[in-house]
Formats: sequence, structure tokens, C-alpha cells
Amino acid sequence: MLDGMDRRPVGMFDSGVGGLSVLREFRRLAPNERTVYFADTAWFPYGPRDPGEVRKRAFAISHRLVDAGVKLIVVACNTASAAAIADLRQLFDLPFVGMVPAVKPAAHASRRGRVAILATPGTFDGDLYSRVVDEFGKGTAIDRVVGHDLAELVEKGEVDTPIVREAVRSALGPTIANGSDVVVLGCTHYEFLAEAIKGEFPGVAVLGTGEPVAKRASDILSELDLVAPSDAEGSLDLIISGNRQAFLEILPKLGFLPREQAAEAQS
Ligand code: DGL
Repeated sequence: MLDGMDRRPVGMFDSGVGGLSVLREFRRLAPNERTVYFADTAWFPYGPRDPGEVRKRAFAISHRLVDAGVKLIVVACNTASAAAIADLRQLFDLPFVGMVPAVKPAAHASRRGRVAILATPGTFDGDLYSRVVDEFGKGTAIDRVVGHDLAELVEKGEVDTPIVREAVRSALGPTIANGSDVVVLGCTHYEFLAEAIKGEFPGVAVLGTGEPVAKRASDILSELDLVAPSDAEGSLDLIISGNRQAFLEILPKLGFLPREQAAEAQS
């Protein structure tokens, strides 16, 4: 990343802890950037909600992040991206980066020509999903798998427990028995389940979008000359719409350092 001068933070949001999977990659790629992460835990889960309701939350949160002075917003949630990304780009005068299920790389990676997309109902219902499948999914059989209760488990900090293993087996077992050799993680919460899925189904490729989306955000900062100076110290501010303490207690279970939690608890 080039050296820059823009010390304003980058905003990110999700219904809960899921978007931290994008944040984790972004902080690795852009360690000098300040970040403000909004976890909308009071409205979790987004997946089964009406898209209009998710859109309203996305607008309200984006306003809040703009008030916090952010220079770019990452919609670190597939469901909110499906419901709102086009409208957010129209309404706000700053760049947005959204999540798109990794259908294209999955279609390339599959040897058998069959892939499973694991996502929330809201993501499958949106136009964004249909467009990506129309554009990149031709010639590939695609099984849509709704991850009932999986985001809820991650939100409780369960990522590789017997309950998670059982939930993953029951969600993905049929499509894998049916020949799917690639699983696309179409929800940012599910990125935390990658190890459990790989452990349960060795030989199946598991593709997420946390890293490419973080890379896209960092590239846009460079392209638009919004990069922080190399002497700037990266930081993380959390805005939690629900129970803050409960959220902070989950962070270590997801691999976030106690140092960040402690710094945050004082702010
Ligand atoms: N993390 C969100 C996503 O990427 C959804 C989880 C939820 O249902 O709130 O779709």
C-alpha cells in the first residue's frame, strides 16, 4: 500500500461478529488504518429479516459511521450487501465495498462442476446473488444451502465445538453427498466455521470472501488517495447496538487479541 495522508477511519458493519472476519484481513493488509466497526447486535440476525428492514438498518448505520468521520464503508455482511449496497452507493457520497458470494472462483475451483453456496435466506433472495450466478455460474451446478442457526452459533462464540460440527454436517452433508466439491461461505459469520467445515469434509475446498473484500477496500483507498500515513497507528473502535459486554467477551473466542478487547473496554 502507498504512503498517504488521510487519517480518517474506515467504517465497517455487520449484524454482529461476522464482519470481524473481514476486519481481521483488512487490519493485516492495512495496519496503519484506523477502523470503526459497527456490530448491530440489537437487530441480529439479519438473514431471516425482510430486505426493507435490513436496508433501513444499513442506512441508519451508514449515517452513524459518516458522523464518526469515516472515509470508506465496508458492508461486511452478505445479507446487508444484497439488500442495500446499490442504494447506499446512490445515497452517500463516499465509497462502499460490499460482499458478493465467491461464485466465480468456486466455479473455477470445482473439478466436478458442482458447488454449494452456504448463505442466509436474505442473500439468496437478493438480485445481487442472481446476477452473480447468471454471470459466473454458467455450466456449474449450484446447490443453495441455507445455514439455519449457523450464524447464531458463531454469534455465541462457538466456532469448532461438537454442536457446530453437527450443525455443519447436517447443513452440508446432503450437497456434499450429491457431489459438491467446493463450499462457498456466503455469510461473513461462516468464515469462522471454515476450519470446522474442512475438518468435517476433508477434500472439499472452502472459499470465503473476507480476504478479497479486505484487499478490494485497501486497493480503493490507494486508488482514491485515501491511504493513512505510514507512521499512523492503526486502531479499532467498536460501536455495538446491543449488549457491549457480551460482545467483548466473545472476541477472544474468535481469535481477537485480549489487547484489543482491553483497549476497547477503556474507550
Ligand atoms: N453476517 C451476515 C451475512 O454476511 C448475516 C448473519 C445474520 O443473519 O445476521 O450475511
